[in-house]
Amino acid sequence: MRILVTGASGQIGSYVLERLADEYDAVGVDLKVPTIKAIKDIVIRGDLRDFNFVRKVVRGVDVVIHLAAQVSVENSWKDPVYDVENNIMTTINLLEAGIKTGLDRFIYISSAAVYGDPHHIPIDEEHPKNPLSPYGVSKLTGEHYCRIFSEKVHTVIVRPFNVFSARMDPANPYSGVIARFISRVKQNLPPIIYGDGRQTRDFVHVKDVVNFIEIALRKGKSGEAYNVGTGKETSILELAEIIMDLARVKGSPEFGKPRKGDIKRSCADISKARKLGFEPETDLKKDLKDIFDKI
Ligand code: UD1
Repeated sequence: MRILVTGASGQIGSYVLERLADEYDAVGVDLKVPTIKAIKDIVIRGDLRDFNFVRKVVRGVDVVIHLAAQVSVENSWKDPVYDVENNIMTTINLLEAGIKTGLDRFIYISSAAVYGDPHHIPIDEEHPKNPLSPYGVSKLTGEHYCRIFSEKVHTVIVRPFNVFSARMDPANPYSGVIARFISRVKQNLPPIIYGDGRQTRDFVHVKDVVNFIEIALRKGKSGEAYNVGTGKETSILELAEIIMDLARVKGSPEFGKPRKGDIKRSCADISKARKLGFEPETDLKKDLKDIFDKI
């Protein structure tokens, strides 16, 4: 079985490709060359916004795991067109080319951002979808394309909550909150919290996301969506405290203006993923300690 992992140089994609390359004929594609040695020689450089390139790269592939994306909510407000091109156009290009070349399976990595502010916690897959940002809208649009194309190709939608790993980029201002906080405390500065810090997230270690993607590959039902999180809610204030403790930074965090389109609470109902055999292993405090020196 030949597998193509898009976004293979990214935070999730690099781990997915590393894992699958042991067992399958797996290759990656990304705009950038990966920094991870183990996958350097199996990542093709190219732009998935270009249909001609996509057609070539998809030829002979049985499964596409589509992780390439613009992942920042904040950046999606700054440049919504870039967000659409990278999150919607790449998805349609891959589906269209894949269907033409006899693709067997398409695993689309969406986001918990499709739900918007929750009506109930934990959030199950049937929860209404009211995205609050261009990023949430583009991810949800990708899901709709997967759903309507699912008669032609087996498509599975995965909705990760807030993913973290040692491969987050602290230098990138658009990286997730964990990378931002670790970068600040390493400079002996307090984390900056946008808003009052009572907003919550379900932080899930990348190893759980990779585990679930492997499960989805084997057992995911076509046209169905699955949450991937831990079912545990952590406030941004608590997160700041944990990271300040790890770095032994004294004092209090700084507070800034809340971000536009920021979701107030987020916590996954993972019963549906569990039915396929998923069991999260994330231990936030322990995993943060483990990644702290590696970031
Ligand atoms: C994140 C992911 C997104 C994913 C979604 C799923 C990133 C960059 N974004 O969005 O790809 O699809 O989860 O739920 O990985 N915050 C601060 N201070 C900071 C940075 C952030 O207070 O320095 C706050 C934000 O305002 C927000 C929370 O931390 O309330 C999380 O922000 P962030 O890590 O950027 O992720 P999401 O917007 O939840």
